[in-house]
Amino acid sequence: MADRLVISKSGPLRGTVTVHGAKNAVLPIMAACLLAEEPSIIDNVPHVADVISMIEILRRLGVQVAFTGDRLVVTPGRYDGTVAPYDLVSRMRASICVLGPLLARHGKAQVSMPGGCVIGPRPIDLHLKGLQALGALFTIEHGYIVGTAKALKGARLHLSGAFGSSVLATGNVMMAATLTKGTTIIEHAACEPEVIDLANFLKAMGARVEGHGGPVIRVEGVARLHGVHYRIIPDRIEAGTLMIAAAISGGDVTVNDARPDHLGAVIDKLCEANVTIEKQNGSIRLRASKPVQAVDVTTLPFPGFPTDVQAQMMALMAVSRGVSVLTEKVYPERFMHISELNRMGASIAREGSSAIVKGVERLSGAPVTGSDLRASAALVLAGMTADNHTELSGLEHLDRGYQNLEAQLRQLGANIRRLSQAET
Ligand code: EPU
Repeated sequence: MADRLVISKSGPLRGTVTVHGAKNAVLPIMAACLLAEEPSIIDNVPHVADVISMIEILRRLGVQVAFTGDRLVVTPGRYDGTVAPYDLVSRMRASICVLGPLLARHGKAQVSMPGGCVIGPRPIDLHLKGLQALGALFTIEHGYIVGTAKALKGARLHLSGAFGSSVLATGNVMMAATLTKGTTIIEHAACEPEVIDLANFLKAMGARVEGHGGPVIRVEGVARLHGVHYRIIPDRIEAGTLMIAAAISGGDVTVNDARPDHLGAVIDKLCEANVTIEKQNGSIRLRASKPVQAVDVTTLPFPGFPTDVQAQMMALMAVSRGVSVLTEKVYPERFMHISELNRMGASIAREGSSAIVKGVERLSGAPVTGSDLRASAALVLAGMTADNHTELSGLEHLDRGYQNLEAQLRQLGANIRRLSQAET
């Protein structure tokens, strides 16, 4: 049997906790290292399974990678691999972001076609559309996207899909454009802090990028990029998860390395739910008394409320006072956690792309399984407020994106421990 978390009812969390580097910033930045020959040093890298998967992909391409402490040293040299194989891509969709750098550097790439996943269908049409506008040609062969590009050329392109902008498609095109002759204008670019971090990394490498953080990004191609030393931004989703943990427990917690400018929508909703929030220099302090007030939430691309915090917010609303409506506008199918929360005594009904949550007085501990990364985090938070014990399985999801979440929560007083395979 695999590892499980045993979460017992916990009192109010108290103390200070520090957020790790952002998983969703470091993954495309690791791919961006492919654009130079020289080594790049990346600090504040979280120890999560997705980073390990990306290291394996880079190594499979012939790149040297060393990971010590929170520092990654990526040395591409004249690596000559151009294939991202099925066994690695199927583990992590973010591997798609090697496509742009491989085409820009080698004029060819073969990346296994990523499938859908538990949070719903996840097409890649915008990645292909953007790279095609720069002159790349694609065919699908034996489950692989086979891309070729004789000479990429700057272009004006529009990257909006049915659900708005795309974070990794924006990143893919921006990376390819850095080494592409001429000027590329990306309209309807994603504005997420992780896109800004990638743009800043590329600029440090010598790329000419402007407008990142807004909906129109302009990239002037350059002949070559060089290695850099860079520090990744803190993980706003981990920060949001810890903030909701404080709120659900009725605690008083200071979250260090939580950037208020990255968390505006989460702060706004928690304030509306009656949590007292103090923005300090580089940290956020939360004080909550139970139960919080029900609030309606709609997820949207940044600066809207992040889809990656929707499940955790649902756990909080499950024990709030009143009825709330949580609406998904980024991944309309991302509701697998509803049934597990209901098994713990929550009262949540799905209506299309919304969940109607009637706050209940208490949840009761149960064996539950995390269906994805954020759903797992939500179940941990629900377990802290539930009677008795909650046993969470499916930790491979949680471990993809959280570096030892249970240790962070334990440090704040939560009653939670990991049962390793040997103990079960
Ligand atoms: N979409 C398309 N076509 C595309 C690409 C996306 O229609 O070619 C749609 C998606 O299906 C979705 C919407 O556009 O409805 C937004 O998806 P996006 O492309 O922005 O997602 P992503 O870049 O693949 C990143 C994060 C996700 C996060 C989303 C949205 C990484 C590695 N992943 O994915 O993170 O939910 O942006 O903010 O950066 C997570 O960490 O748990 C996670 C799933």
